[in-house]
Amino acid sequence: MVKSNFEKLIRDIPSLGWFPRAELFSGPTILEPLENLSINLGVNLFIKRDDTLPLAMGGNKVRQLEYYLGEAINQKADTILITGSVQSNFARLCAAAARKFGMKPIVQLEKRVPKSNLEYNRSGNVLLLKMLGAKIVYFSEGENEKQADENLNIIAGKLRKDGANPYIIHLGIDYRPLGALGYTAAAVETIQQANEVKLEIDHIVLPTGSALTHSGFLAGTSIMKHPATIHGICVRRASSLQTERVLRRTNEVGELLGYPNLVGVDAVNTDDTCLPPGYGRLNNYVSEAIKMSALEEGIILDPVYSGKALAGLIHLIRSRVIPSGQNVLFLHTGGVPANFGYQSELEPLYGLSENNLRVGGLSPSSSTNPLQQ
Ligand SMILES: Cc1ncc(COP(=O)(O)O)c(C=O)c1O
Repeated sequence: MVKSNFEKLIRDIPSLGWFPRAELFSGPTILEPLENLSINLGVNLFIKRDDTLPLAMGGNKVRQLEYYLGEAINQKADTILITGSVQSNFARLCAAAARKFGMKPIVQLEKRVPKSNLEYNRSGNVLLLKMLGAKIVYFSEGENEKQADENLNIIAGKLRKDGANPYIIHLGIDYRPLGALGYTAAAVETIQQANEVKLEIDHIVLPTGSALTHSGFLAGTSIMKHPATIHGICVRRASSLQTERVLRRTNEVGELLGYPNLVGVDAVNTDDTCLPPGYGRLNNYVSEAIKMSALEEGIILDPVYSGKALAGLIHLIRSRVIPSGQNVLFLHTGGVPANFGYQSELEPLYGLSENNLRVGGLSPSSSTNPLQQ
């Protein structure tokens, strides 16, 4: 087994070691150049593959869950509750982490995206949740973070009455950003990796939603006094709201780690050009980015997070916010399983229709089952 990288990380930020952590991976994730996209976009583009983190198909939430699960284990919890959208990667990974540590997962799925088709509501992450044996409850409002958290509190209250010991992962701004510490550790990991190969990163581009990834990373680069500009690509809220959230969250992370008043608003960069028509919805920029990444680099993104983030990165280059020739790191945060919930929107991007999906001249509905031949 590979030895954990954590000992090396806390040499740079020792206070990361103050918090209980349930180890879910041994890191670091791969950081490598994207040569074809670099030529196409006119920058030196690198990728950090957090989509390859182990546990139930990976993604950024693995790093965040290490801290929540660490606290849950300390509190001897037997059940974990979480809330998220129907195609939530966080819920999927939370269910997997709960199983790994012998706890029961309960996930609340919020109707955040106006999609009523079967593939969105049953495939992708929803199927994986079922395979992980998560208990699913539904919450009809998609944009009521406070009430979604409150609903988890109510469910937990009932469980306690029945003798269970639940631990809640709240998503709202009223609760400590514990999971962001995973991305402060990731920032240290990235800086150490880049230093080892003498790579000077000028810009880091990542998706920003709950802001735990963005604020954790920004706290890390700020504590380490690394000069890279961090760009958060908005996946859920408009830029003005997201900037406020990231600023508040980053300073809360700073407080947790013993660095009060860590950043000012000047350190927070967000861009919402690629957000419309809203959370979890495709647009032409995102479709182009998903296609470029797959066809030029063989790397699969998703419509909700990583596709939006690369679309935002391309926009920042085309609008010269990121000048040509710079060293740019794209953080791939995962989200790949959600693609199966978007099948009918994604197929047309590749010219796939019923006709050319036919296998060996037979349509998939014809009998091609060798057992029947
Ligand atoms: C794959 C993926 N990328 C990015 C994000 C956004 O990260 P954060 O919520 O930490 O801002 C999420 C959030 O669910 C996600 O699932």
